[in-house]
Amino acid sequence: MTPRIAPSILSADFGRLAAEVAAVDAAGADWIHLDVMDGHYVPNLTFGPQVVRAVRDATTKPFDVHLMITDPDTYAPKFRDAGADSITVHAETCPHLHRSLQGVRETGARVGVSLNPHTPLSVLDHVLEDVDLVLLMTVNPGFGGQSFIPQMGEKVRRLRSLIDARGLPVDIEVDGGINTRTIFEVAQAGANVFVAGSAVFGGGDYAEAIRALRARAAEALGGA
Ligand code: DX5
Ligand code: ZN
Repeated sequence: MTPRIAPSILSADFGRLAAEVAAVDAAGADWIHLDVMDGHYVPNLTFGPQVVRAVRDATTKPFDVHLMITDPDTYAPKFRDAGADSITVHAETCPHLHRSLQGVRETGARVGVSLNPHTPLSVLDHVLEDVDLVLLMTVNPGFGGQSFIPQMGEKVRRLRSLIDARGLPVDIEVDGGINTRTIFEVAQAGANVFVAGSAVFGGGDYAEAIRALRARAAEALGGA
């Protein structure tokens, strides 16, 4: 499996957002991860579709939009119009999860479902065939710069078994506290898309940060 590195612009300089997107593109990012927060589902606010549209022209890399909002059904089409290539909804925000995933599918975007650290994998039992990616939160959503929750390695491993047992081409994306140490563990456990906010934007050299993450993930995937 080829590891994909998805820098999260949550940790970028918002005053220069388009330039930051262009910079991580040039530094080797595979996807650009955009964290949308509404101050209700999570205790933080970020941006909406207008900002996504404003930075869309800064790169041709896929826009991976992570919706941490209470009403993803209403907003998913607006993020698709703004340039999202994949749209991920939180299972916890969707009382009718199957319907919400179909709604994202109808926009033409790749379909993602996310689970908080405490949410059991069993919520995926009857929708795994309907998604392109599962985003496992490896911290509690809302903020960058938190520490990876150690129990999430085992959760990734179990999800990889479920996906492989059904022979599905579903990506496992991990989000939160990913650095050159934790990426090795989750890659070995079966994740193949790695969101990194502070590990990329926190230092000065974005290309070196992405290279180091990719090398550690590749090492783990090669040795798995
Ligand atoms: C948290 C967001 C993450 C965040 C990760 O709710 O979903 O994408 O930006 O930040 P780091 O990599 O700093 O933990
Ligand atoms: Zn995210």
